[in-house]
Amino acid sequence: MEKILVLDFGGQYNQLIARRVRDHHVYAEIAAYNKITVEEIKAAGYKGVIFTGGPNSVYDMSSPHFDPEILNAGIPVLGICYGCQLIAWMAGGTIESAGGSSEYGKIKLYAQDSLIYSDIPSESIVWMSHTDYVSRLPEGYTLTGTTDKCPCASMENASKKIYAVQFHPEVTHSEYGNQLLYNFLYKVCGCAGDWVMESFIEDTVQQLRETIGDKGVILGLSGGVDSSVAAALLSKAIGKQLTCVFVDQGLMRKDEGDFVENTFTNLFDMNFVRVNCQEAFLAKLKGAVDPEDKRHIIGTEFYKVFWDEVRDRYDGGFFAQGTIYPDRIESGKGDAAKIKTHHNQVKMPEDITFDGIIEPLQDLFKDEVRKVGEKLGLPHDLVWRQPFPGPGLGVRVIGEVTAEKVKILQEADWVLRDEIAKAGYSENLAQFFAVLPGVKTVGVMGDHRTYDELIAIRAVTTDDFMTADWAKIPYDLLERISNRIINEVAHVNRVVYDITQKPPGTVEWE
Ligand code: XMP
Repeated sequence: MEKILVLDFGGQYNQLIARRVRDHHVYAEIAAYNKITVEEIKAAGYKGVIFTGGPNSVYDMSSPHFDPEILNAGIPVLGICYGCQLIAWMAGGTIESAGGSSEYGKIKLYAQDSLIYSDIPSESIVWMSHTDYVSRLPEGYTLTGTTDKCPCASMENASKKIYAVQFHPEVTHSEYGNQLLYNFLYKVCGCAGDWVMESFIEDTVQQLRETIGDKGVILGLSGGVDSSVAAALLSKAIGKQLTCVFVDQGLMRKDEGDFVENTFTNLFDMNFVRVNCQEAFLAKLKGAVDPEDKRHIIGTEFYKVFWDEVRDRYDGGFFAQGTIYPDRIESGKGDAAKIKTHHNQVKMPEDITFDGIIEPLQDLFKDEVRKVGEKLGLPHDLVWRQPFPGPGLGVRVIGEVTAEKVKILQEADWVLRDEIAKAGYSENLAQFFAVLPGVKTVGVMGDHRTYDELIAIRAVTTDDFMTADWAKIPYDLLERISNRIINEVAHVNRVVYDITQKPPGTVEWE
């Protein structure tokens, strides 16, 4: 399979560059600039290398640099933003600070004749974000683009297949950015485009069969997108050799446990084990009110129940998990301490040893995981499921969790989901759910005074969940949701809408 290396110098768009390349059907992987050598790049047979942006100035020697031999390796290179300046610096050009006239935002680019600008008009809009710029081109390089303020918006050494752009082709604000990446991949690197999900599925199924042989595989299924797609893929590869263990702690949304069970028992060939353990979880949660205590209890109990079940069925073989590519990427920012241990990667108890770990989705981005899920025939609702916290409704029932409270919350949440779906509004929301704050308020129904539970609705829009806006759901839809919850859900007499941004609020209430 042909592949492109995205060499990460700490820019904020490293994953986006790799995703854009993959959108063009060319496999891209990311490596931090200080974790790979020119020799390794050559040996890996990359069709091309893309230098990402980065927050630094190339003259600051503490900022990321790379072995200049990469420019003589005979491999096509595209430098973006900081990557453009780094190429100029490595090849002997001059970089200066633009001082007060740095460029930020949408800027008009004047492009000249170049392979990289094939099918791109001579004037177009690009996204710029820089203070330094290339003030003198290195020998052997020609200028191919300017802006009103930037004398070198792009340059190239076409004979060496080295191209550099000061702007960001990977962001959608660059009008022809996608075309530029296409030109680099297909016209400069000579890629053929063999990264398609159909062949990913075929190849992975083949590899899984070879690795697993006639042994068994155990997978922890959470009902989330990643583990579900991993289960579907493994089922296609090895059928009944796969055992999926689904721990239903009774803290999922209404009917969700049944939905997961029906999906996997009806549509896929595998051994499916559902462990229903709401009572045990609630018993452990009795009296717990602090959110972190509750998370800890739920996590510990989950670990215990899951591994007890696995231990019972253990017969050698492999352990599979739904790790995806972003769970594994080390950032070129070089701050190893920040690399998160992801919840997809499960800690193993010491008394169980497997022949190996299988992570069939470890090279895929989330959108690719979804494409694979759809092609494997998983239901739309599962493939497009919104994020759901591991501790489930345990952190949406505020304070102590009881079976009654979980039931009220499940019913209210179900009405919310139903109305959002009927209005076709879910595509506008990154996440939405009901919360039971455990606050009682006074109301009136008919002639009677009521004193009952409050339900809060939380709905957010966001790209990355690090920051989020409360969603501006139309009033009439909010009104229908509120009316239905109060009429249909016993013990609820008031509904409020959470209008808190993140930060300072978080998405979840606990
Ligand atoms: P917060 O509340 O931190 O949520 O703004 C950001 C995203 O993370 C999810 N979340 C969790 N996911 N275990 C998880 O697996 C957790 O304990 C947890 N807490 C929050 C939340 O649903 C949102 O998508």
